Amino acid sequence: MSEDRLPKFSLLNDAGDTISNPDLRGTYSFIYFAPDIDSEGPREALSDLNGILGKAEDLRARLVCVCQEDPQTLSQLREELSLGLDLVSDPEGEIAAAEDVKLEGRDFYRQCLLVDPWGSVRTVCMIPETEDFADNALMIIEEAVYSDQSLNPAIVSRRAYRAFEEEKIDRESITLILEAGHLAPSCMNKQPWRFIVIDKPEDLKRVHEHLSDGNYWMKRAPVLIAAHATKGDDCTLNDRRNYYLFGTGMAVGFMMVQATRIGMILHPVAGYDPIGLKKLLDIPEEAVLITVMALGYPGDPDTLGEKHKRIELSERTRNPLEQVVRWFSE
Ligand SMILES: Cc1cc2nc3c(=O)[nH]c(=O)nc-3n(C[C@H](O)[C@H](O)[C@H](O)COP(=O)(O)O)c2cc1C
Repeated sequence: MSEDRLPKFSLLNDAGDTISNPDLRGTYSFIYFAPDIDSEGPREALSDLNGILGKAEDLRARLVCVCQEDPQTLSQLREELSLGLDLVSDPEGEIAAAEDVKLEGRDFYRQCLLVDPWGSVRTVCMIPETEDFADNALMIIEEAVYSDQSLNPAIVSRRAYRAFEEEKIDRESITLILEAGHLAPSCMNKQPWRFIVIDKPEDLKRVHEHLSDGNYWMKRAPVLIAAHATKGDDCTLNDRRNYYLFGTGMAVGFMMVQATRIGMILHPVAGYDPIGLKKLLDIPEEAVLITVMALGYPGDPDTLGEKHKRIELSERTRNPLEQVVRWFSE
């Protein structure tokens, strides 16, 4: 996100106070670039925006109008239009430079940015003049606030589903998922994870022979991925902190989120014969075959046995958060 940050600026508001980046922190800032406040359009836009000031404040957002005019002119404008929103003078286009916003000239769009409370530019928008400008602005703010306050949708919708479509998966999609795993963090960037992708029907059949009976459902998956790692390939610190399993687990976690995002299931299992499978897949003796994952598109739950079908269609269960979290101080 670092390249999306607002550039450094130091400007004056209509009261003559200096406004710079830290002043925008802690709240969302919806920034409207008014091209020429003497003309009707921008004045209308300002009055419209001013009308949603209360609603924006409820969302922890401030409304900022950036103009080229000097602070004094802006102060007159505040009085004339009874404005409560922030007015910032940006004669050189310091903020506008952020996203190539044109401060001069008029077209039929209102150019705006939404900056989040942490200083990143979240949305660059061109709102048509003909539409309800303020309602659109509010919607853009609401969307960002909502997405920041909710869990990542791919994490929420991921499940260890078992019903697979048998349809083949192209290697580009498989690679995308592997790339997500390979972006996981690891102790001193050791990257202990190793993956073996099995996607040819004749190879899959040979792997199937090593799955536990309860994992019969994996035989429909068009791709299986084995994840292995070796203790010596990652940090081994005092107090038995051997990080290879942890690092590989994180990579697998990232892969599951990425797979879910593109509508696939990635289901890791522990139920297989590790010795036979290591031999078949030519995994070094000293390595641990941590998991085998089934990858594919969701299929028909009727392909599952009764117990698994019931789980497939049921709500997810988790212990209460309080059972696993303790706040050190109340
Ligand atoms: C390390 C590990 C091993 C697992 N082994 C199996 C397995 O052998 N067979 C199976 O059907 N599911 C297996 N699962 C899936 C879990 O049963 C499932 O993740 C858990 O019940 C939580 O459900 P959810 O992932 O849908 O939230 C395994 C999951 C993990 C992370």
